[in-house]
Amino acid sequence: MSRSAHPAGPRHADVLTEGHYSAPAADLNVLDEKVWSRTVTRDADGALTVGGITVAKLAEEFGTPAYFLDESDFRARCRAWSEAFGPDADVFYAGKAFLSRAVVRWLKEEGLNLDVCSGGELTTALDAGMPAERIAFHGNNKTVAEIERAVEAGIGRIVLDSFQEIVRVAHIAQRHGVRQRVQIRVTVGVEAHTHEFIATAHEDQKFGIALADGQAAEAVRRALSLDGLDLIGVHSHIGSQIFDMAGFEVSARRVVQLLAEIRDEHGVELPEIDLGGGLGIAYTSEDDPREPHEIAKALSDIVTRECEAAKLRTPRISVEPGRAIVGPTAFTLYEVGTIKPLEGLRTYVSVDGGMSDNIRTALYDAEYSVALVSRTSDAEPMLVRVVGKHCESGDIVVKDAFLPADLAPGDLIAVPATGAYCRSMASNYNHALRPPVVAVRDGEARVIVRRETEEDLLRLDVG
Ligand code: LLP
Repeated sequence: MSRSAHPAGPRHADVLTEGHYSAPAADLNVLDEKVWSRTVTRDADGALTVGGITVAKLAEEFGTPAYFLDESDFRARCRAWSEAFGPDADVFYAGKAFLSRAVVRWLKEEGLNLDVCSGGELTTALDAGMPAERIAFHGNNKTVAEIERAVEAGIGRIVLDSFQEIVRVAHIAQRHGVRQRVQIRVTVGVEAHTHEFIATAHEDQKFGIALADGQAAEAVRRALSLDGLDLIGVHSHIGSQIFDMAGFEVSARRVVQLLAEIRDEHGVELPEIDLGGGLGIAYTSEDDPREPHEIAKALSDIVTRECEAAKLRTPRISVEPGRAIVGPTAFTLYEVGTIKPLEGLRTYVSVDGGMSDNIRTALYDAEYSVALVSRTSDAEPMLVRVVGKHCESGDIVVKDAFLPADLAPGDLIAVPATGAYCRSMASNYNHALRPPVVAVRDGEARVIVRRETEEDLLRLDVG
């Protein structure tokens, strides 16, 4: 369809509805490096390339929608985190953001540890050869079978999340004749400035054991009294997509206070604290994430200061970034299907994926950027809403953004920063086939998670 067949929607000057958008970038062809992975650039013809391969070639070989993951960027981010924290700290990649066997191997090669939160993630990690002692197991309701497997495998640590679990893990460990290394997850009572569904340190939610009413101190008492447990530290995770370090500072201070109370009551100085993950990334040009070395310095300064004040030996710190490592390393490539200009409102651009490959916009009101990537264009910016192909009006991928007004069906558009919590939260809604994840590096692209097929769907439907 040519541009004349679908008159362009409203220009930014005559937008009538409210939205989250700011003015369009001066030149829509310029890719803001904050939101794109590091090897992304435009070639001489204006097509986006990643790892040296153009999107047209990638679309031809792997189809759309698809996630393209910039492997060298992923590895560089792993190294940046481990170098920033140095040899006296541990970085655990949070597998829930995105996990596959290739990712596990990269983590292993780059010297990171891994945090898993389900039996499925544990299986993936072990199968790909991550040494069990480099794995931490999280979750508010781990099943007995999951705990059994973790203990049997010799997992590095289990993060205890309830009183029942303290007893369960102790019994299972004793049955296996081991002392399981554990941490206790505490809720420190911080209101993180993020969406309520991804904030986790206020008291009224399902994770952790509260510090405030003495529950955490009681949990420590019980854990120390049980032979099957080797209590190595305290864990806190305050939420996700957080930019402000103030919440982490309060959390670190309260966790150190608890360590001091434990020392006073039990005469034991626990050797470790884990401050969780949750560091924000840039989804749009408005976001300004911190670099790993700034985060590492801020956290280690506060822990050192608080420990000096409490006359405690400084514990070993661990952190669990998921999004901050994998989020910026991938984009989702879509083909434009239909285009509907709504006079006085905006133009709806439908793509061949949607809420089944990115639920975050519908679920958290998340903001994303989008760019025309199969070519450049000098056309005027047009206010668009990028929507999917699902039978639901909330099926929105990018709520408010600008694309060139000559956008046409068949064009390729890409949504950057979809490496975290997109494939891992993908669904089969409307029997959509979950897209593949393709790793791109140095001019080579390979599928690391293949596209689902209709046979896959029918295989589960036993009739
Ligand atoms: N550690 C713990 C104990 C966690 O619960 C999480 C995330 C992380 C680390 C990693 O957080 P990250 O650095 O990736 O923010 N689906 C939501 C995010 C849920 C996060 C759950 N826990 C989203 O799409 O924003």
